[in-house]
Amino acid sequence: MISASKTSKVVVIGTGLVGSSYAFSLINQNITDELVLIDLNKNKTEGDAMDLNHGIPFGAPTTIWAGDYSDCKDADIVVITAGANQKPGETRLDLIEKNVAIFKTIVASVMSSGFNGIFIVATNPVDVLAYATWKFSGLPMERVIGSGTILDTARFRFLLSEYFQLDFRNIHGYIIGEHGDTELPVWSQTRIGSEPIERYMSKYKQAGTQQDLDEIFINVRDAAYHIIERKGATHYAIAMGLARLTKAILRNERSILTISTLMQGEYGLNDLYIGVPAIVSNQGIERIVEIDLNEEETKQLHHSAKVLNDAINVIRN
Ligand code: 2OP
Repeated sequence: MISASKTSKVVVIGTGLVGSSYAFSLINQNITDELVLIDLNKNKTEGDAMDLNHGIPFGAPTTIWAGDYSDCKDADIVVITAGANQKPGETRLDLIEKNVAIFKTIVASVMSSGFNGIFIVATNPVDVLAYATWKFSGLPMERVIGSGTILDTARFRFLLSEYFQLDFRNIHGYIIGEHGDTELPVWSQTRIGSEPIERYMSKYKQAGTQQDLDEIFINVRDAAYHIIERKGATHYAIAMGLARLTKAILRNERSILTISTLMQGEYGLNDLYIGVPAIVSNQGIERIVEIDLNEEETKQLHHSAKVLNDAINVIRN
């Protein structure tokens, strides 16, 4: 359990675009006392640490340094963003073999430091790699969390808020399933304020059509492709999502976030990591919140799980 008075320490492994944007988010939001950067390219992490440290007088006191795996020993959270990322046209699942091999080495190195905190995994395919981290580390599932559909849910809420011209804080809804091509929106549980979205739309006829909503979901699902086509990578929004997750853990917020976690019978699924809403606290995953899905949503979630299950066989075999 992370106590409020203890110095909080986060280690980031991989300081590419996602890792360095995450570091920048953490220090801007004053989320951790200590921040350690690890990367194969030590020169880069040293440069990043200098650059970030020079910004501290504009922000809040954070101790930042370029470290190594021994720094994981007393870390509260180790965040892994290292690995190959999608090239234009590649799916997240295309990255499995390269990244599972990289994760074997990383997780073994972290665990040999004596690490006993919480892992956050962000590298894609995130559901598969979070499962791999859980298996390779031997830590309880509560303490290995994948970023899952945290970003997809944010994209969903953002696009709906633009469409309905409403504050995104009044849009309540989740994207669940694979962080990837088979994810799904849970329309049956999506609310505008406290109104079910369908009801809101039938009350205010000008508010929108189902066809528009379907298009919004396609834009959520394919957002990474659209961004990668334009700038080669996505990093700011996922970094902010990781910072949000880090804050929920370090401050024991007990926030419900859509993250990737181990299924042990929930939704009729077992032995795989997949994105679902769960309560996040200083224990890691406090509880999966099993929401009611309609028949079609259950079918889609099971399809997504089947795709992930087949992908995870790479690790099981
Ligand atoms: C994203 O969804 C590529 O997974 C990354 O932005």
